[in-house]
Amino acid sequence: MIELKWDKLKNLLPKNPNIKGLLKKIDARNQGFYTAISDKSYFDKITKFATLARKKYKHFVILGIGGSALSAKLFNDSLKKSPNIHIIDNVDPSLIIETEKKLELKKTLFLVISKSGETIETLAQFQYFKDKIAKAKLKEKDHFVFISEKNSALNIHAKKNSCEFFEIPKNIGGRFSAFTAVGLLPTALIGINIKNILDGARTAVENFRTESPTKNFSFILASIQYALSKKGKTINVLFPYCQNLKTINAFYIQLLAESIGKNNKGITPMSAKGATDQHSQLQLFTQGPNDKLFIFIEEENPKNDIAIPNSLANSPFKKPLTFSQLLKIEKIATEQSLNKNSRPNLTIKINELNEKTLGALIMLLFCSISFLGELYGINAYDQPGVKLGKEITKKLLLK
Ligand code: PA5
Repeated sequence: MIELKWDKLKNLLPKNPNIKGLLKKIDARNQGFYTAISDKSYFDKITKFATLARKKYKHFVILGIGGSALSAKLFNDSLKKSPNIHIIDNVDPSLIIETEKKLELKKTLFLVISKSGETIETLAQFQYFKDKIAKAKLKEKDHFVFISEKNSALNIHAKKNSCEFFEIPKNIGGRFSAFTAVGLLPTALIGINIKNILDGARTAVENFRTESPTKNFSFILASIQYALSKKGKTINVLFPYCQNLKTINAFYIQLLAESIGKNNKGITPMSAKGATDQHSQLQLFTQGPNDKLFIFIEEENPKNDIAIPNSLANSPFKKPLTFSQLLKIEKIATEQSLNKNSRPNLTIKINELNEKTLGALIMLLFCSISFLGELYGINAYDQPGVKLGKEITKKLLLK
């Protein structure tokens, strides 16, 4: 379902890697993102709630930020592009006003999502819409659902006001919460089959447990990232050649930056999109500083394809061609341009973008971050820098 093409970088893999030892260290950190995907009753509750809510509401609004918004955005942008899901992941009033204009409050369900239940931006958004609902003489319990940690302020609020509540397990951090209600409830609400997403994620977990160094994709990816960073290539460019996967960039930027950027260590994530950025960043990539690893994502058999009519007198095409074939050729051209200039690159290949492959891709990225954390000897699951920003904001608000 997912393959990693990394042959050119084989020499970067350690000679006798101790995958078993690394997995032991990862397991010792007791993170739930790869174990909680088996909790059937948790996912049944999501599906049941979503089935009923889909009949009752037209608009679903996510109030959340960072890891509490990005996975829902990724699932929707990659699989559905539903106009009924609205993501308010900022406190810029123009976003709030713009979104509000699209809503019919009576037919709107707000999802207040915050792991800590304390994030200022989310609480501000919640208070704003709570007030709107009250002014429209609607009941809070009919229009708000809360997704947070047990015993958080939002959990207590939900209980007090008899609102529906979904728990985020304590040992799953914001950016790793795609396979909890954070990512899956909004996704089920727009009619996507979350069971398939979880099935895909499971295949990636199986691969993550493989102790063979040439078969464990998350280990290979992390080892190459790590080895190259030690050689001064501390920038990673995620480069999907798949328009529907463009949000994976914002998702991965957060995942890599927040997980690995600490203790004066880290890898700087960058975003590019094929073929568009061949006409923008490729100049820098091929002839600028040689300080990057390029991670392509390629879809082997896209569902949609259309032929390019060969109607020009001086057509550049010798034989009939489709747009997806052209995109593939463009990717090969970029790869060869990078190779010619000794710029390291690898490709994550998915067969077709769907629920299963997206679930597997996200889990592969999560697991590679786990390996990367252990290789660097850092805790990939905390975010003291983010916390500091939150604390300073709170202090400033008290002045
Ligand atoms: O990954 C993380 O932990 C952060 O990016 C959080 O998702 C973000 O700060 C929002 O926090 P919370 O979910 O507690 O509102």
